[in-house]
Amino acid sequence: MEEIITELEELREKIRHHNHRYYTLDDLEISDGEYDRLFRRLLELEKRYPRLITPDSPSRRVGAEPQEAFSQVTHRQPMLSLENGFDEKGIRDFDARVRRFLGDDYQCDYVVETKMDGLAVEMVYEKGTLTVASTRGDGLVGENITANIKTILTVPLTIKQSQEQRPIPDLLEVRGEVYMEMEAFRELNRDRLSKDLPSFANPRNAAAGSLRQLNPRVTAKRPLNYFCYGTGEITGRSFDTQKELMITLQQWGFRVNRPHIKGFQNIEDVIEYCHSLEENRQQFPYEIDGAVIKVNPLILQTRLGQKSRSPRWALAYKFKPTQETTKIIKIDVQVGRTGALTPVAHLEPVEVGGVIVSRATLHNQEEIEKKDIRELDTVIVQRAGDVIPEVVKAVISKRTGNEKEFVMPTLCPVCGTGVEKREGEVVLRCPNPDCPAQVKESLKYFVSKGAMNIDGLGDKIIAQLMDRDLVKDAADLYDLALEDLLQLDKIELKSANNLLRAIENSKKPTLPKFIYALGIRHVGEHIADLLSTHFGSLEKLQQADKEELSSINEIGPQIAESIISWLADESNRRLIRRLIEAGVRIESVSTVPSSPITGKVFVITGILNSMKRSKAKDLIIHRGGRLVSSIGKGTDYLVVGESPGSKVQKARDLGVPVLQEDEFIKLMEGNILAF
Ligand code: IVH
Repeated sequence: MEEIITELEELREKIRHHNHRYYTLDDLEISDGEYDRLFRRLLELEKRYPRLITPDSPSRRVGAEPQEAFSQVTHRQPMLSLENGFDEKGIRDFDARVRRFLGDDYQCDYVVETKMDGLAVEMVYEKGTLTVASTRGDGLVGENITANIKTILTVPLTIKQSQEQRPIPDLLEVRGEVYMEMEAFRELNRDRLSKDLPSFANPRNAAAGSLRQLNPRVTAKRPLNYFCYGTGEITGRSFDTQKELMITLQQWGFRVNRPHIKGFQNIEDVIEYCHSLEENRQQFPYEIDGAVIKVNPLILQTRLGQKSRSPRWALAYKFKPTQETTKIIKIDVQVGRTGALTPVAHLEPVEVGGVIVSRATLHNQEEIEKKDIRELDTVIVQRAGDVIPEVVKAVISKRTGNEKEFVMPTLCPVCGTGVEKREGEVVLRCPNPDCPAQVKESLKYFVSKGAMNIDGLGDKIIAQLMDRDLVKDAADLYDLALEDLLQLDKIELKSANNLLRAIENSKKPTLPKFIYALGIRHVGEHIADLLSTHFGSLEKLQQADKEELSSINEIGPQIAESIISWLADESNRRLIRRLIEAGVRIESVSTVPSSPITGKVFVITGILNSMKRSKAKDLIIHRGGRLVSSIGKGTDYLVVGESPGSKVQKARDLGVPVLQEDEFIKLMEGNILAF
C-alpha cells in the first residue's frame, strides 16, 4: 500500500507539472503519448483504490490556472474534458457503460465528429452579438481572449437570423476548437526560423501561442480558424439532438465540420467510421488527433450527466500519437544525392502514429545547435504523413550529464573528401560527384516512382550492384543481364526476370519524368513539368540558354544556372547519350499550346468529394495550370470543397473567382466557364 500511495503522489505531481507546461506555458516537455500513459495509470490506480482519491488530484480537474496577464472569465457552465478511449475495446466499453446506465428503456444513437487538435474556446453571444470569448483555462475559469478571437475572420461578430430559422437565443454560448492548418503552421515556422525565433513544435502549440498573444495584432497575422462542437449555456427552447444543434449552429453562421459529422445506430458502425477517419487523417488540411463519439439525443445526454472531469455521454477515441518520446543512441551523417551532409539521429525504436521509428533527421548543424540536441539525449520525435520523422526537441530535464555534443565532420564520411559550405547555404556538402553515397542516392532517385519508375530496384539491390561494380551510373542499369542479377544475394530467378522486365519497361518515359530523373538540383517534378511544357523536347531544352530559361514563369536565375551547368557538364552529356544509346526513348509531349487553363494559378480550400488533392493537382498541371497553397492577387481561381477555410473570404476581398467542385470539374473537362 505504501508503494501505491507513493506512486499516486508521484503521478499526480508529474501530471500537475505537465498540465502547467501544457496549459499555461504552451511548452511541453513530454509527448502526448507519454502524458496519456501517466494519466491512464493515475485513473487506473484511483479506480482500483478509490479511497486514495484526493480532491486535488488532477483527475478531478481539467487543466491549469490561466495566465495572470489576461483577465479572467468564469464559465457559466464548466468546460469539461473528455474521457479517452484508445482502441476498439475502449469504444465498446463506452457503449456498454452508456447502455448499462440508461437501462433497456432507451434506444440511443451516436454521432461521431472529428477531434480537432487545437485549443478549446467559448464564445458568448448576447442578443446575437459576440461579447466575450475565453479559453478553457482550468475548466471553471478561463482567460479573456475576446480581442484575439475577433481577429479570426470566420468567427461571426453578430448572428443574424433568416426567416425559416429558429430565433436566436438571448444568451448563446458556443464552444469549439481553434486550430491552425498544417500549411499555415509550416509557413509560420519557416518565417520564425528566418527571424531566429524559436519554432513551434506542432500546430496546436502554434494556435495556442497565437491566440494567447497579449497583443491581438499579432494574433491577427496568424492564420487561425475554428470549428464548433457544442454549446454552454443557452436560453429558450432547447434542441433535440446533437446533430440538430450542429446544423442550427451552422445556419447561424458558425463553422461546423458538417461533412465529417456522421450519425450511427450501433457501435460497430461507429468503430468502422473511427477507423476510416484515422486512416484518412493525413488528408485533412488540419490535424485531427481523434474522433469524438457522442450520444445523439440531448435528453439522454442530460440523463447520463457527468463525472467530475468529463461527461458520461461522450468519448474521445484517440488516434495513435504522432509524437513520442525516445532516446538518441547516436548521431551520424548521411550524404545525399546532391552531396548534402545531413545529421541523422539513431533512436531507440519507438512507435509513432502506428509506425516504428528508429531514425529521425536533425536537418543540419545549425538546427542541432538551436535545439541543443546531444547524443544520448531523451528527445521528442514526430512524424507527419510521409514526411521523414524529425527530432522536435530534447527533454533537458532528463539529462544525466553523459550526453555528448555533436559536431559535423570536416571530411565526407563516405569518400573522405573535404566538405564545403557554399555561400548563403547552411548545409555542408561533399564536392566529389563520384562519391559512392551520391551515386547511390542518384540511382535511387532515378528509379523512383516519379522518375523512371523501375519497380523492384530497392536500396539493397542497388548497393549490391554498386559493390560488385556492375553499375556505376544510371545508364549501366540498361546493360544488366540476367546472369549479373543472379550473382546477387537473395535474388531468385523470378524476381530477377521481373526486374529486367521493369528496366525494359522504363525505356519509354515521358519528357517531364525523364527530366526529373536526371536529378538536376532545384528541378523537382513541378519544374520538370514547366520545362517540358515550354520546350517540348529534350533537344530543345539542351539548346536553351540562361535567358530563355529565366523567361519561364517561376524559373529564376538560380534554377536556370543549375540547369545550364548540369547540361554543360561533359559527364552528364555522356550519361544522356548513353541512356539514348541503351534504347531510352522519350515520349514527346504535345505541348498543349494554350488550353484555357495554361498559366492559370489555382488554390484549393476545403475537402474535395470526388477526388484527392493530388488528383486535382494532376488535372491542373496537365492542362498547363499551377496549384499553389496561398491565395493572393495573382490567383486565378479558388476551388472550394467542403468546410472551406478563411480563403473564401480572402478570395471575395481580392475579387478572385470562386469555383465549386462541380464547376472545377467542368472546367477541367474543357468546358470553359465564362467569368
Ligand atoms: S466535445 C464536454 N467535440 O477535445 C465535452 N471536444 O479532450 C466537450 N475537442 O476540451 C468537448 N474536437 O477542446 C468535443 N468534436 C469535438 C472536439 C472536442 C476537439 C477538444 C475540446 C475538448 C478536448 C477534450
